[in-house]
Amino acid sequence: MAKQVLLCSPAYFDVVDEKNPYMSEKVSVDREKAQRQWQALCSALKETGCQVETIVPVPGLEDMVFAANQVFVGFHEGVGKFIVPSRMVHASRQREVPFYVDWYRQRGFKIIDLDLGTDHLEGHGDLLWHPDWSRIYAGFGFRSTEPGVEKFRVVMSKLGIPVVPLRLVDPYCYHLDTCFCPLNNEAVLVYPGAYAPESLASLRGFWKRVHELTAEEAHKFMGNGIVANGSYLTPYITPHLESMLSQEGLTPVVVATSEFEKSGGSLFCMKAFLP
Ligand code: ARG
Repeated sequence: MAKQVLLCSPAYFDVVDEKNPYMSEKVSVDREKAQRQWQALCSALKETGCQVETIVPVPGLEDMVFAANQVFVGFHEGVGKFIVPSRMVHASRQREVPFYVDWYRQRGFKIIDLDLGTDHLEGHGDLLWHPDWSRIYAGFGFRSTEPGVEKFRVVMSKLGIPVVPLRLVDPYCYHLDTCFCPLNNEAVLVYPGAYAPESLASLRGFWKRVHELTAEEAHKFMGNGIVANGSYLTPYITPHLESMLSQEGLTPVVVATSEFEKSGGSLFCMKAFLP
């Protein structure tokens, strides 16, 4: 798995609206605590051997800390490093995209702009690589739209990269990264209740071992972890999750994200792996 990772400090992080069922305008964020939790994530990533890169946070962009969503990051033999900019559903989040696109452009990434029109695509919230870069899993239904995923599929297929569309049906799993986490090339963690039946059946076909989270585990973001060099960073742990991880040779490392969960996100959403 890639070792360089991009994060954004939660300097302006806040919960000001209700973009998903975890968010409530009545809840207040402890920004100092958020900062400490974010620092702990940076430290945990460094301890697993990752090199942490950062983008400068922008005042007024309260969700910019969720560095997984603004672009899809890829690598292809012919094209090299590339990004596909998102078209986020929410206006405040759409404003984050140009800042991230600039960051990647300045570092030599090729930009593949899709003509999304009124459709949506939300980066690695919904688009996840198979660990060996051979395929992309694409969630839709709450944020990314089915035609948005189809436009993405057509462009990726021209590069020879297959895209597997997956229909999401649980509003608490509004992004694919809340119910789908590749552990290695053969094994994946999923929460089955998040998928339409035909999507669950199609995804099973690509994995030798499918480990199933319970609804409680998934809704506590235990499937929103980060796999890095033999560790699984997770906001919580259960004996059930621990045993699935140990079957894959992974050691859980608990990194608290309570402040970010108020915004409907946890560890996976707070970073983007760089090729
Ligand atoms: N408040 C953010 C939103 O609703 C959270 C994003 C979490 N990101 C993720 N990839 N699941 O857009």
